[in-house]
Amino acid sequence: MIFRQLFDNISSTYTYLIASRHGAEALIIDPVLEKIDHYIKLLNQLELKLVKVIDTHIHADHISGIAELRDRTKCITLMGEHAPADVVSMHVRDNEKIKIEGINLTALYTPGHTDDSYSFLMNDRVFTGDTLLIRGTGRTDFQNGSPYDQYHSLFDRLLKLPEETFIHPAHDYKGDLVSTIGEEKKFNPRLQVSSADEYAQIMNNLNLDNPKMMDVAISTNNKLGMSLDQQKKMNGLSVNEINKIINNNNCCLIDLREENEIERLSSIDGSIKVSYNNLPDYLHKESKKLSKRKLVFYCAVGERSALAVQLCQSYNLLNVNHLVGGINKWIEENNKN
Ligand SMILES: [Fe+2]
Repeated sequence: MIFRQLFDNISSTYTYLIASRHGAEALIIDPVLEKIDHYIKLLNQLELKLVKVIDTHIHADHISGIAELRDRTKCITLMGEHAPADVVSMHVRDNEKIKIEGINLTALYTPGHTDDSYSFLMNDRVFTGDTLLIRGTGRTDFQNGSPYDQYHSLFDRLLKLPEETFIHPAHDYKGDLVSTIGEEKKFNPRLQVSSADEYAQIMNNLNLDNPKMMDVAISTNNKLGMSLDQQKKMNGLSVNEINKIINNNNCCLIDLREENEIERLSSIDGSIKVSYNNLPDYLHKESKKLSKRKLVFYCAVGERSALAVQLCQSYNLLNVNHLVGGINKWIEENNKN
């Protein structure tokens, strides 16, 4: 396995790059905007194809690199379902699996530092974001944080993992790189409490200064998704426009979402299902047949489908559109009628 722990010394953020082997698909957790060139260089050197990028929560101390990575590599951006709707192209639920080639992660909803905080479990290691740090825990005094939620995320969730599980946090300010659940249970001063009230008492009396970049970071990180206007410019069509053309025999409607997403919200009738990651292979094999048809892509919120329109250009497929706002918009609009 390829596992790289990368560091941003301005915000003391750890970013993780993971892949099953050289030449395989890769994912990145908690990228920092200023470090994108470095990540891309490393991806190229290791011959990795970045397919997913995850933020554990909306960060307050640095600008996330997810949007820049999406724009430069056409990867899928991903957060938990409690993250604002227009930040990422895919939302996952508690206990949902995240798959790339040879790697499986499980999303764990661990609110408290913020109300959108997720941890991600991968076999014998867990990426804890700012929920559990090495000998510390993430502050709970803004972004709808709650020491009580965090107590339950820690004691009822993360600390129930096997003691030998490695902890990989989103930050460390002292130079520690990794810990284990067992080590933190014993030595983390914040975890030596006997009740949620006692934990809240500690967290409510930290009296920390706000992070320097807080105002700009939170507002920027809340708007990292592709806007509907941007999506429209990439051959985007409205729900009404799509409704008018989907019954035409020449129209080929393609759902780019993954199985888990389709289980939650079923596809539009008559769609072909080709997940976004499999699209290059599909286009490669079928481009001759597809060139005679009108292609209409859609996904969850309209980002993957906008990127798919761009991808089609390299296969010389030009009669291509996509649904602005994705299936979410489709349901919203059709419920109005
Ligand atoms: Fe944070």
